[in-house]
Amino acid sequence: MASKAKSRWADDEADAALDAQLKKEKEEKKRLRAEKARKLEAERQAREAAAAAASSAADAQQHERDGTDRGSPAKRRKLSPERETVPPTDSAPKLLRFEGGTFGRSRSVENYDKLNDIEEGAYGWVSRAKEMATGNVVALKRLKRDPKDLGGMPVTALREIQILKDCDHRNVVKLKEVVVGDDTTKIDSIFLVLEFLEHDLKSILEDMPEPFLASEVKTLLQQLASGVSYLHEHWILHRDLKTSNILLNNRGRLKIADFGMARYVGDPPPALTQLVVTLWYRAPELLLGATRYDSAIDMWSVGCIFGELLTGKPLLTGNNEVGQIAATFELCGVPTDESWPGFRRLPNARRMSLPPSTSTKNTTGALIRAKFPLLTSAGAALLAGLLSLDPVQRPTAREMLDHEYFRQDPKPKQEALFPTFPSKAGQEQRRRRETPNAPVRGQRAADLGAVDFSGIFSGREKEERGGGFTLRMV
Ligand SMILES: Nc1ncnc2c1ncn2[C@@H]1O[C@H](COP(=O)(O)OP(=O)(O)OP(=O)(O)O)[C@@H](O)[C@H]1O
Ligand SMILES: [Mg+2]
Repeated sequence: MASKAKSRWADDEADAALDAQLKKEKEEKKRLRAEKARKLEAERQAREAAAAAASSAADAQQHERDGTDRGSPAKRRKLSPERETVPPTDSAPKLLRFEGGTFGRSRSVENYDKLNDIEEGAYGWVSRAKEMATGNVVALKRLKRDPKDLGGMPVTALREIQILKDCDHRNVVKLKEVVVGDDTTKIDSIFLVLEFLEHDLKSILEDMPEPFLASEVKTLLQQLASGVSYLHEHWILHRDLKTSNILLNNRGRLKIADFGMARYVGDPPPALTQLVVTLWYRAPELLLGATRYDSAIDMWSVGCIFGELLTGKPLLTGNNEVGQIAATFELCGVPTDESWPGFRRLPNARRMSLPPSTSTKNTTGALIRAKFPLLTSAGAALLAGLLSLDPVQRPTAREMLDHEYFRQDPKPKQEALFPTFPSKAGQEQRRRRETPNAPVRGQRAADLGAVDFSGIFSGREKEERGGGFTLRMV
């Protein structure tokens, strides 16, 4: 090609440089256009590849065969561009893919034959049933309606299912599946299918002529602490530990049940519902209105259960919140700034009148030893620790498992040697309970206002001064 005629104006070096610059820019524009076209083509090919991948396997196989017959599957090969040739662009983002699990249809409750009701209360309903296909006996628990009923699945039910599904421990009841009745729009048509255990501790304690032996109490407590430790180590607060929520089978295996109040928490735990735990098992910080609490509330309940296993009777049985606080202080002493730093800042403690600290010289340990004379000093120390008013001073479930109490004679009884009891749950009999129920979600916790506890120890000094060490336990 003949060289371009020299411009009239391009007669100096500056003009030549400008010319070169313009030429360079033109080439760059050309290169960018080509690049853009290549990208568009690559995107089009990627789209076609995705569409092809989505077509049915049969189609794909058919096409593959056709391609082979023609001997030119050129198009198909082009549909899978090499990674390096298609640089990632903004318009073709890479997606991170996670295994998401699948939603299956729940089976029908019709797969189960109801045998008998175990418990039918105001909200709850649990019955014994048999899976028709296998003959396995299970417990069917109907989900509770939310008292505020907003029409959806109550958060408590979602939590109960989620937590039970996640748990896998020998001392936590197993959820086998969730089944539904005819009307799947209603919450009370949803049932949890749980492994069946013959007893709950409350029913056994109500019927036993004699309380458990020391070795039996240890086995039960050890299993309870083991289950609670598993929950707490997995960031689960149960929030309704009590004897009716603890199941026992005929082989001496204990399992924690009823996760209707349970929830996952973080560290530090968030502000939580204050109205949790059935009154008789409720920790003092909850009674005094704390919304920041932790696993120590469950350990308080474990302490109450410990006391109940020893005597066969619930330990602290207030008629209402004020009565429960009074019963708690009578057994555990009145809090002071030394024994429970900062308790006065709790909402219900601000206006509470307490006896002067001189009249509360009985430490929890002394009162507990007086109430449980047959308990060894290690046992009394563990119980007093669990019933520390100050949550920080209660042992964790893991610490409890290492307690000397379990190493002392009598040793915990082997599960297999545990006595068997006639099962109420296996009979055509419904339970009647005279114990308070778990708090109802959505209810407001009581504002106790100004409460006067200053007289709760009146007369106690006289009793102490009298013969020996008799304390009046109200
Ligand atoms: N898996 C099970 N096997 C045998 N009995 C069970 C089982 N689960 C629960 N029960 C019995 O049913 C009772 C009520 O069950 P659960 O506590 O789970 O329900 P709930 O409706 O939340 O009860 P509540 O409000 O009274 O605490 C238990 O006290 C126990 O006697
Ligand atoms: Mg229950």
